[in-house]
Amino acid sequence: MAKLIEGKLVAKKILDNLSDEILFLEKKPCLAVIIAGNDPASKIYVNSKKKKAEELGIKSIVIELPENCTQQEILEKIYTLNNDDSVNAILVQLPLPAHIDTKEVLEKINPIKDVDGLHSYNLGRIASGNKPYSYPCTPMGIIRLLEYYDIAVDGQNAVVIGRSNLVGRPLSYMLLNANATVTTCHSKTKNLAKITGQADILISAAGQKGLVKAGMVKKGAVVIDVGINRQQDGKLCGDVDFWEVEPDVSYITPVPGGVGPMTICSLMQNTFDLYKIQNRI
Ligand code: GUN
Repeated sequence: MAKLIEGKLVAKKILDNLSDEILFLEKKPCLAVIIAGNDPASKIYVNSKKKKAEELGIKSIVIELPENCTQQEILEKIYTLNNDDSVNAILVQLPLPAHIDTKEVLEKINPIKDVDGLHSYNLGRIASGNKPYSYPCTPMGIIRLLEYYDIAVDGQNAVVIGRSNLVGRPLSYMLLNANATVTTCHSKTKNLAKITGQADILISAAGQKGLVKAGMVKKGAVVIDVGINRQQDGKLCGDVDFWEVEPDVSYITPVPGGVGPMTICSLMQNTFDLYKIQNRI
């Protein structure tokens, strides 16, 4: 039987430590979040980020813009936050409305305040094996889970399904930087099962329910499920068919309670780390 990777528990431990460190700061770190439009899932995510920040003593500012806001309006908000010394971290909640050029928006964030690690400066630092100001939150959360459970990465075959800038692409580079042999699969990959079957560490970030089934996974592999999908009954599920795969593997993340809590945990840690960099602590 597989060991469960309990992200909820690991996140709580990390956040408890962070809360203790923040308690002693005279001036508190500050996270600003820009949300544009009415995407219900984004609203829930932003509320939970705000709530978690406040629980930890991190100041949070939420800037809400309407669905029909202009590119210029978003860029002006970023300009103001970049120049506000009391703001340490800026996050633009994705997805932005379809008429907005997301790449341009992310590129306008000052890299030293880029708490999501999505600016090309930070992504480029990761891709070139250098330290960025921030690592993207979900990949960072996954690396922390592997560390917490003492799961070796060095020399292992790691297969990542998904090549998004948010998860698959940076995670592939981070695993490579940790000396894994990395294969990044995506929607055009041929014979996915043959590749996933060779993974010592298999990470699925495709957002496709039922994608990873028994028979696609090597015996004893470590399986990390980044997917957040809805079942017909409304319950959340990942990309991995948990009950089919679980008997064959050594470690597996549940959905919910696996990677999800680690993403928000990394966001809080990144906010604090940027605060320290900016204040030379
Ligand atoms: N939308 C879904 N996940 C994320 C995330 O990690 N960061 C941002 N900015 N938007 C998201």
